[in-house]
Amino acid sequence: MSDNKKISMSVVRRLPRYYRFLLELKNNGIYRISSKALAEKMGASASQIRQDLNCFGGFGQQGYGYDVPKLFDEISAILGLDSRYKAILLGVGNLGRAVINHVDFRSRGFELTAVFDNNPALIGSRINGMTVLDVSGLAQYCKANPVDAAILCLPKESAEQTGDILYGSGVRCFWNFSHFDLALKYDDVITENVHLNDSLMTLCYCMTQSKQSSQTQTEQ
Ligand code: NAI
Repeated sequence: MSDNKKISMSVVRRLPRYYRFLLELKNNGIYRISSKALAEKMGASASQIRQDLNCFGGFGQQGYGYDVPKLFDEISAILGLDSRYKAILLGVGNLGRAVINHVDFRSRGFELTAVFDNNPALIGSRINGMTVLDVSGLAQYCKANPVDAAILCLPKESAEQTGDILYGSGVRCFWNFSHFDLALKYDDVITENVHLNDSLMTLCYCMTQSKQSSQTQTEQ
């Protein structure tokens, strides 16, 4: 990273999006892009892009634009994507299986090292090359193996209890899909909550706003 200054979380939340667009450009053999062209591609304003990218050195040159591979590498480094954080997943149901099958852990800084469930019908079965382990051995597993993060794909009732076991085993980072937020119970955990319904409600809000404003315009 070119600078150690702290980047605001709102910029950090936009970095994965830059990462995706820059990866696509790189894969299409585009090695240079102006902030205007990048803005058009991403549906953002050029000044927003300049502001964001200036937070960590800019990498833009007047009259040249952005060096795509360099910017891509810089964003990857800021996100820490060359890490190999060891993650385990709890709850191999519909959601857990989708995560195991579709998330590209390795290119996003993680390695999925074990998956657990409490359903005897699932324990011992294989999913995407991983054997489902019995959650009753979770504390023991955590003692014997490094665990940097846990992915919670559990029903709410199980998430608190399993979260306690994980916390007691030293796990402090959670990618949380469950409806229980461990950060409300423990103040030294890092949780990233992912809720599809929240995103859908945000869409609903935007659609409702847009509908209301076009109704107001029609009435005027
Ligand atoms: P599911 O019922 O298909 O899977 C849940 C799995 O957890 C089952 O395999 C079950 O045996 C296992 N399980 C239950 N208690 C356990 C424990 N103590 N230890 C280990 N495994 C345990 O449910 P699905 O559809 O996979 O959803 C899981 C949870 O995620 C639900 O509670 C749901 O509310 C939530 N969810 C969240 C979403 C989000 O966007 N954040 C989207 C979909 C579901």
